[in-house]
Amino acid sequence: MKSLENLLRKNREWAARQKRDCPDYFKKLQYHQRPEYLWIGCSDSRVPANDICGLEAGELFVHRNVANVVVPSDLNCVSVIHYAVEELHVKHIIVCGHYGCGGVHAACDEASKGLVDNWLMHVREVQEAHQKELDAIVSDAARFRFLCELNVLEQVKNVGRTTVVRNAWKEGRDLTVHGWIYGVEDGLIHDLHLKASSTEQAVTISTLDKARFRSRPD
Ligand code: CO
Repeated sequence: MKSLENLLRKNREWAARQKRDCPDYFKKLQYHQRPEYLWIGCSDSRVPANDICGLEAGELFVHRNVANVVVPSDLNCVSVIHYAVEELHVKHIIVCGHYGCGGVHAACDEASKGLVDNWLMHVREVQEAHQKELDAIVSDAARFRFLCELNVLEQVKNVGRTTVVRNAWKEGRDLTVHGWIYGVEDGLIHDLHLKASSTEQAVTISTLDKARFRSRPD
């Protein structure tokens, strides 16, 4: 219980600090949010979306799940995308994976993790779709990093498969999906240059030369 009291105390300190630095801080946030970006990331506690992008409350609309998976039949994720695009009019959807992702690692592991195995099946599908390229990498660490990147690639494509995003593109709206990956070890985000601003681009992402990812250091 002590640790929870600690959270509440820290919250009060934070609120006081925000108000001291900017007296209108909460007043401004009270009635609306105007985030320009939707962030789809991993639930991992080491990847706090706002913090690593240096963004304040109100600046980033966020959806997180284990291994940053986008499944068009996942009502939760699709509803977030819908709200972000149709109501908040975000211009950028960022799918950000991270190296050392426990979800991605568990997906390659034969040992059962219980219920989450069903969710990680989507990552396993990514692995199976790119098995040949993965098998060509000798180092276990490099193969794992590459799978984390491939997972971002496939999830960017999945965002482009949702009806919300397809409709927005069909109407010629300014909306771009990006694929990034975060390094827990150094705090840096790497742009994987996976970018789609149209259905055509989302489809051709699969033809990118993936060898360049492999050139990254272990
Ligand atoms: Co993760």
